Amino acid sequence: MDKKKVLEALNLDLEHEMSAMIRYLHHSFIVTGPLRGSLVSMFRTKARDSMDHAIKLGEKITALGGHPSVKIQEIYEPGDQTIEEMLKENLECERQHLEMYEKQLSIVQDNTPLRLMMEQVIVEEAAHIEDLEMYLCDSSKKMAKV
Ligand SMILES: [Fe+2]
Ligand SMILES: [Fe+2]
Repeated sequence: MDKKKVLEALNLDLEHEMSAMIRYLHHSFIVTGPLRGSLVSMFRTKARDSMDHAIKLGEKITALGGHPSVKIQEIYEPGDQTIEEMLKENLECERQHLEMYEKQLSIVQDNTPLRLMMEQVIVEEAAHIEDLEMYLCDSSKKMAKV
């Protein structure tokens, strides 16, 4: 395993997870309307999931002899967003994270615990994607068309 390459990758992941945590929390603060309750709890659950990923990554970086980054990847101020825009923005970020983790699998192949950790994170990112896709697919609208 190329430790330098792996540590760079894990630090990039950590910065993305910290950004995801902040973005989800921000959305949980600004979402309004009759659906607010369920969306606040969904956004905060995903903020916690992102923090859990950040914890796994940060501890692993130290365990491998590296130093965890305190930076975050860029987050822009979304301003006023509709619920659909919030969900689409998060879905796009989750898809990017999944792709990033999947690309990194090749550099951790020969370290089984690290590979399994990354695979577990991939499973959880895929679940985030499916959940957001279901929020964006309104079955009451589909029913109305029938
Ligand atoms: Fe994550
Ligand atoms: Fe995620």
